[in-house]
Amino acid sequence: MGDFHKKEFDEETRLKLWFFRQYATLWIPVFAHGKHREIRIYDLFSGPGADKNGVPGSPLEILAAIEEFAPLLLKHRVNIVLHFNDDKLTKIHDLKQNIDNYLSARPDLERVVTSSPIVYTSKPTEHLLPVISSSFGRHPSLVFLDQTGIKSLQPDLLAHLCGKKMTDFIYYVPSHFYKRFGEAKEFKAYHDFDIDTLKNAPADSIHLELSKQLNTKYSDTGTRFVPFSIQKGRNIYGILFGSTHPAGVLKFLTLGWKVDPSIGCANHEVQNLRENDTRPSLFATEVGFESQWTRLTKFKHDLASLVEQSDTISNDRIFEFTLDQGCLPSHANSALSELRKEGKVFFDGPTAGVSNDSVNRKRKTVIVRSRR
Ligand SMILES: C[S@@+](CC[C@H](N)C(=O)[O-])C[C@H]1O[C@@H](n2cnc3c(N)ncnc32)[C@H](O)[C@@H]1O
Repeated sequence: MGDFHKKEFDEETRLKLWFFRQYATLWIPVFAHGKHREIRIYDLFSGPGADKNGVPGSPLEILAAIEEFAPLLLKHRVNIVLHFNDDKLTKIHDLKQNIDNYLSARPDLERVVTSSPIVYTSKPTEHLLPVISSSFGRHPSLVFLDQTGIKSLQPDLLAHLCGKKMTDFIYYVPSHFYKRFGEAKEFKAYHDFDIDTLKNAPADSIHLELSKQLNTKYSDTGTRFVPFSIQKGRNIYGILFGSTHPAGVLKFLTLGWKVDPSIGCANHEVQNLRENDTRPSLFATEVGFESQWTRLTKFKHDLASLVEQSDTISNDRIFEFTLDQGCLPSHANSALSELRKEGKVFFDGPTAGVSNDSVNRKRKTVIVRSRR
C-alpha cells in the first residue's frame, strides 16, 4: 500500500477532505457565539498535514475552517482546543512544523487556536480514544477518525462516541474490507456486524449496509449514523458521520445531497436504490414508476405509507422520519405537496412545514392527515 503521505492525494481523498472541511465549517459557527467557553476538535489520524506535493491534509483543512470564524471566536472569547494524533512520531513532528508555519502567517487564527496549547500525541488511537473520551459530552466536540484500516470502528471504541451529547464524529472506513475479510477469525474478534448480510449485500451498497447495521445496533444511544459511500477503483470506502443531534445530522445530509443530487449518499451508482420494485405500491400507476425505483420515489412512497398508517402525524415526527431515511426536509415538503395534489394527504397551509425548526418548536406544528 505504501505511505499515504508519500503520494499525491487522489480525487477520492480530496472528496473525503472536502466533507471534513465543509462539516467543520458548518459545525464551528454553531458554537462560536460564546454559549460554551471551550470547544474541541480532535483529528486522531492526523498525518503530517500535507501530501507529497504540499496539498493540505485534514489538520490544515480544519485550521482553514476555523480561520473563517476567527473574528467571531475572538469576539466571544471562545477557546478552541485542538488535539492531533498519529501513531507515527515523525508525522507528528512534521505536522507541528507545518502548523507552526501555517499559523505564523495568520495572527488572528494563531490567537484563536493557541489560547490553549495545541495538543500533539503519538499513540495508537485505539488506546487514546478511551482516555480522551471522558471529556466528550462536557464540551462541544468534533472528532475526525480518518483511519487506514478498520480497528477504530470496534464496538468498545464506538461506545466512547455514541450517545454523547454535543459530540459529532466522522469516520473514514474501507468498507470493502468487511466483504473481503469479514469471515477471518481476527476480524470477527474485533467486529460484531452481521457479516453474512454484509457479504450478501451488493458490492456497491456495502457501505450503506454497514451504516444501516450501526443505526440498528446503536439506536438506543440516540446516535444516528449517516453514510456517504465512495468508490475508488473497484473498492468501496465511505464516510460514516455520527451525531445525537438532528441539526448535525441534517447538516451532514445536506453535504451529501450537494455532492450527489440524485441519491445523496454516494459518488457512484448504487443499484439497490434504483432497481425495479415489485411491491404493491400506491404509485403503481405513476408515470415512469414501472421502470425505475429511485431513492426519492421510494421516499415518497414510504412517507405516504407512514401517514396512512398513523392516520394523523405531526411535521416534527415527519422530520425525524425524513432524517432516518437519509433525506432532507425539502424532499419531505415536495413529496407531501405532491401527495396533497394527488388527494392522498391533507394539511393546512402552503407547505407541510417540515424543517429543523418544527422540532425546535419555533414553528407551529402542522398535522398531516391521510385521506383514505
Ligand atoms: C489515512 S491517513 C490520515 C490522513 C490525514 N487525515 C490527512 O488528511 O492527511 C491515516 C493516518 O493514520 C496513521 N495511523 C495508522 N494507524 C494508526 C493507529 N492505530 N493510531 C493512530 N494513527 C494511526 C497513519 O500514520 C496515517 O498517517
